[in-house]
Amino acid sequence: MNLKESLEIKKQFVDNELDKIIPDETSYPGILFKSMRYSVFAGGKRLRPVMALAACEIFDEDISKAMPFACALEMIHTYSLIHDDLPALDDDNFRRGRLTNHKAFGENIAILAGDGLLSYAFEVMANAVAKNPSAANAKALQAVAFAAGVNGMVAGQALDVVSEGKPLTKQQLDFININKTAAMIVGSVKAGAYAAGAEEKDVDILEKAAIKLGLAFQIQDDILDVVGTFEDLGKAIHSDEKNEKTTYVTLFGLERCKEIVETLSNEAIELFSHFGEKAEFFVELTKYLVDRKS
Ligand code: IPE
Ligand code: IPE
Ligand code: MG
Ligand code: MG
Ligand code: MG
Repeated sequence: MNLKESLEIKKQFVDNELDKIIPDETSYPGILFKSMRYSVFAGGKRLRPVMALAACEIFDEDISKAMPFACALEMIHTYSLIHDDLPALDDDNFRRGRLTNHKAFGENIAILAGDGLLSYAFEVMANAVAKNPSAANAKALQAVAFAAGVNGMVAGQALDVVSEGKPLTKQQLDFININKTAAMIVGSVKAGAYAAGAEEKDVDILEKAAIKLGLAFQIQDDILDVVGTFEDLGKAIHSDEKNEKTTYVTLFGLERCKEIVETLSNEAIELFSHFGEKAEFFVELTKYLVDRKS
């Protein structure tokens, strides 16, 4: 199976499950569920849940073991995007090809839709652990919680927003990128691997690879903010310039950034290759992401 087919199958699998578990607007209060579903089903790439399923597959062919964690990762990621777009953060008007949540529903409901997705994600994972209270499931939940929280995405976002308009060193910028973006990608592969019962030594290798992939992913996002198009990205370009963000592009320039993305991706591929044929999906995905336009 080629990468595109494998991506599509896993994405469908995740989308079906998300559709099943997130109540629709016939639940009360309808506006909350309408707003949550508006952002979840707006056409995201689903990279994090797909990576969780693919990491699971390295160790166990039954990828449904990772599904509750995959859904939680996508709900947490979507909440992070809703909040990232708020006027108090990046103040953006378009996301995933449609108006941002606060533009469509107002800031109050957008904040609560984010809160709803975050807490429901933990409910879904806790239900999985309650149903099968294995160490594997507990560690998967732990990996997602760590990635999303004060040692991960939230910490990166905090430094990102207070750094607007200020010069940053490479070290400070790496802290932001590792936390705001790479952390959730690391959490995705770790959760998938743990859910399949993987051993720590294997999870460590996946973690190292995912940090490289996550950093490359954010630098590519910063490149696309400068050279991409609204049509491809489904979100406004030049958001970073508007917010006076220091990025890899402002520090090193576009050409050097492209080389850094290549180098990081090659390092990730080398680490994934440790798993041989079983990690072919990750090798192909990493190659594909280097040239992504969206
Ligand atoms: C956007 O993530 C935010 C970053 C961490 C760069 P994605 O590019 O994965 O966004 P979706 O999920 O496809 O919309
Ligand atoms: C966002 O980084 C990372 C998140 C945790 C949401 P960006 O602010 O660069 O993401 P985009 O460009 O708005 O998608
Ligand atoms: Mg941001
Ligand atoms: Mg943003
Ligand atoms: Mg960006």
